[in-house]
Amino acid sequence: MISLRQLVIFLLPTSIHARLLGLPTSPFTHSDGEVRLDKIKSIVVDSKYADSIDERGETLIPPMLLQFASTFADDLKWSANAQVSVQLGHDSTEDSIFLTVGNASDYLDAAGRETPEGYSLSVSSSGITITGASPLGVWWGTRTLLQQVILSNGSLPYGSGTDSPGWGTRGMMLDAGRHYYPPEFLIEMCSYMSFFKQNTFHLHLSDNLYNNVRIYSRERSLDLYARFRLWSDSREVAGLNKYKNESYTREQFDHIQSSCAARGVTIFPEIEAPGHALAIVQWKPELGLEEDLSLLNISHPETISTMKSIWSTFLPWFHTKMVHIGADEYTADVNDYNIFVNAMADHIKTESNKSIRIWGTFPPKYTDGYVNIYQNVSIQHWEYFEDNPYHDYILNNYSVLNSDDAFYVVNKWSGSYPQTVNIVRTFNGNPSTKDGLWYPYIFNMRNSTDNPLRSEPLVLGEIAPLWNDYGPNSSVYSEAYYAWRDGVPALADKQWGGDLTAAEFPGVLSGLHPFIPGQNLDRSIPSQSSTIFQYSFEDSYIAPPNASTTIPDLSGNAYNGSTTCSLAPSSSALLINSRCSLTTPLSSKGRNYSLTLSLVIHSLTSPANATLISGHDSSLMLTPGITFFASGNHFRLNTTVPLNQKVHLSIVGRGNQTFARVAAEGVEIVEEEFLTKMGINGERFVWGPLAIEAPLERIGGEGCGWEGEVSGWELRDQV
Ligand SMILES: *[C@@H]1O[C@H](CO)[C@@H](O)[C@H](O)[C@H]1NC(C)=O
Ligand SMILES: *[C@@H]1O[C@H](CO)[C@@H](O)[C@H](O)[C@H]1NC(C)=O
Ligand SMILES: *[C@@H]1O[C@H](CO)[C@@H](O)[C@H](O)[C@H]1NC(C)=O
Ligand SMILES: *[C@@H]1O[C@H](CO)[C@@H](O)[C@H](O)[C@H]1NC(C)=O
Ligand SMILES: *[C@@H]1O[C@H](CO)[C@@H](O)[C@H](O)[C@H]1NC(C)=O
Ligand SMILES: *[C@@H]1O[C@H](CO)[C@@H](O)[C@H](O)[C@H]1NC(C)=O
Ligand SMILES: *[C@@H]1O[C@H](CO)[C@@H](O)[C@H](O)[C@H]1NC(C)=O
Ligand SMILES: *[C@@H]1O[C@H](CO)[C@@H](O)[C@H](O)[C@H]1NC(C)=O
Ligand SMILES: *[C@@H]1O[C@H](CO)[C@@H](O)[C@H](O)[C@H]1NC(C)=O
Ligand SMILES: *[C@@H]1O[C@H](CO)[C@@H](O)[C@H](O)[C@H]1NC(C)=O
Ligand SMILES: *[C@@H]1O[C@H](CO)[C@@H](O)[C@H](O)[C@H]1NC(C)=O
Ligand SMILES: *[C@@H]1O[C@H](CO)[C@@H](O)[C@H](O)[C@H]1NC(C)=O
Repeated sequence: MISLRQLVIFLLPTSIHARLLGLPTSPFTHSDGEVRLDKIKSIVVDSKYADSIDERGETLIPPMLLQFASTFADDLKWSANAQVSVQLGHDSTEDSIFLTVGNASDYLDAAGRETPEGYSLSVSSSGITITGASPLGVWWGTRTLLQQVILSNGSLPYGSGTDSPGWGTRGMMLDAGRHYYPPEFLIEMCSYMSFFKQNTFHLHLSDNLYNNVRIYSRERSLDLYARFRLWSDSREVAGLNKYKNESYTREQFDHIQSSCAARGVTIFPEIEAPGHALAIVQWKPELGLEEDLSLLNISHPETISTMKSIWSTFLPWFHTKMVHIGADEYTADVNDYNIFVNAMADHIKTESNKSIRIWGTFPPKYTDGYVNIYQNVSIQHWEYFEDNPYHDYILNNYSVLNSDDAFYVVNKWSGSYPQTVNIVRTFNGNPSTKDGLWYPYIFNMRNSTDNPLRSEPLVLGEIAPLWNDYGPNSSVYSEAYYAWRDGVPALADKQWGGDLTAAEFPGVLSGLHPFIPGQNLDRSIPSQSSTIFQYSFEDSYIAPPNASTTIPDLSGNAYNGSTTCSLAPSSSALLINSRCSLTTPLSSKGRNYSLTLSLVIHSLTSPANATLISGHDSSLMLTPGITFFASGNHFRLNTTVPLNQKVHLSIVGRGNQTFARVAAEGVEIVEEEFLTKMGINGERFVWGPLAIEAPLERIGGEGCGWEGEVSGWELRDQV
């Protein structure tokens, strides 16, 4: 009997079927039969290569093959519930996955050069083998295997294939300058990207809100939101960064870099100057250009030396062969700009042997007396009004990374850019092929004269940015993830060279999405029914003094709570105050939930600063209106909770919106939406929705700022 899969293969034209459907797709020639994952007992790492590393990638901290193997084993457990051991060995066996390194010349990129990121997968009755051009190549092969077992319920088809990325730089850029993101969020994003074989996470680490020179006074400009996200105790940079709680220490930055490297993702750091440099001017106002304080005055004798000393401080932090010096949107003197870029290139090379990348801004000119930027400075193209990537740069022997703003996202609101990645363009953005599938060598989606050949070696790949133009209060952390949720996999397929179609995409993504290892960006919580937890407080239970008592979860999920509080005289409520608390084993719930607290507030000991529930991603407060503290911001409602009266306070997360609802006997139900009020260039305000995670960790305890009774607490995943 032939399986459904074989039937499908049989019916499809050969050009389509010789591949595995995944994100990205991978070339694969099927043969009859399959291996069930539950027959696999171990991962066998070729002992010849167990401690080998590959130094050809951008990272300076590449993992050993054995390290990748152990992360892979964890992933098989997490994503496919498969328990496998990791062993050293020499050969594949029928009940193992053999990981080894092969001949680099078998794996070629779009330009026909060897790539260390290629791999082969072979599946037969004698076992499964992943051969990589390097340990990193093996790692990408394990992603293919993992995706296939997820999509086919724990089996892998017999057959074999060899797969290599067309381009070496594949990933995303996050504007962490105008919005802080905690280290763990960045690490979870790396896990998400890695699952789809993206290898680069570009972090834009300094920037400022739009310096609206038309209407801002010097004083106001010097007070605008501007941040430099790295925190060093070095005297050289004392005063540059005044916001330690929204910065990365060296230890944290190391943790981010090594956690991402463990999954094959390189953190690519950018410190922006001489434009978007208000943070530096706020530190040393004499370095700013009078007419626009966000631009450095390069001819000031201390500008270049200041930037050199910033770089000298932070270069030892960065585990990459290349760093990004920004150099975006400088609107003052072009000669100064070119001198600046070359001076930084020289300095960074001398200090660290690293090379540099800049945003395409002033293309080269070949006229007398004009000093161009070195040809070994890597260019990141983003807009045609700045440069023509092919004609200005590639034809003049510069290498170019494609970050054309066709894939830009501006978080939450923009007058010109979308709020999620325009994934349709990944399927139809190619003006020169019939299928329309876009690839990184397509800079211009309308005019193919502007695009080099697919095999052009100076095209490095693609990075799609997300910008936080309207600053820290326009969004909560996870909204950057949601802006990319579908964009990462759609782009990743084409950045690699896959050929998934628009029709195939949604099914493959929804099949894979719940099982992506190393992250829970959705903050989902497994549950047997639509009730995730439910607590009530009955007579039967009496808390002994100074001990904690288990509060059974009535949902059936056994998310039992625990409390040190005592019962109210009524016997059906807990007495909450700053000396005792009620805690759960959960921390946060993402989109689509309804959280209800039944309570009576007796008094607000801190009327403008009481915390009802705290959680990993948010705290629900009374200030005195109902307020969320999330991602460093307070989002306040006018609605309050009446005192000395039993109320049901519900927080409802409905898609990208969040609401609070207060119901009390004799009171009309009030529902109000949490909105952010974004300041647009100092000219006006725009209101936008917020998708705030539900806080689930704790009620009451030290500093809670209120006293009262809680008679019920419930979380549902329906709205
Ligand atoms: C790798 O392949 C090339 C081309 O097929 C061959 O010349 C070379 O000897 C091979 N190297 C190894 C180590 O097998
Ligand atoms: C998936 O595989 C398991 C056994 O590994 C089996 O119990 C289950 O029925 C399968 N589900 C589907 C949808 O085939
Ligand atoms: C830039 O700095 C130089 C040297 O200090 C100074 O002469 C010049 O006026 C400054 N230019 C502007 C536009 O601020
Ligand atoms: C400097 O970097 C280049 C390019 O990455 C590399 O080839 C060279 O070995 C490095 N030199 C030293 C001394 O590390
Ligand atoms: C880049 O080119 C310049 C000028 O040719 C040279 O001085 C410098 O060493 C090169 N930098 C790197 C990183 O190779
Ligand atoms: C680019 O490289 C080609 C081939 O090496 C050379 O002929 C050409 O002059 C170079 N162009 C520039 C602007 O350096
Ligand atoms: C919120 O979600 C709705 C429905 O999916 C969508 O139309 C809207 O564009 C989203 N808003 C933002 C700011 O993302
Ligand atoms: C296409 O691009 C070329 C090169 O940049 C330009 O000369 C030509 O005018 C463009 N054509 C159209 C229709 O925009
Ligand atoms: C960092 O501290 C400032 C000042 O206390 C505060 O306003 C901000 O919300 C804090 N940021 C975060 C992410 O908690
Ligand atoms: C909340 O109160 C402020 C200040 O009184 C008022 O401007 C605003 O319109 C109120 N918002 C709503 C939604 O009622
Ligand atoms: C957000 O920040 C802007 C300044 O950029 C400010 O005007 C606005 O009131 C803030 N909104 C909230 C909800 O705090
Ligand atoms: C608000 O309460 C928190 C938690 O107790 C405390 O850390 C913070 O200092 C308080 N802030 C103000 C302005 O009272």
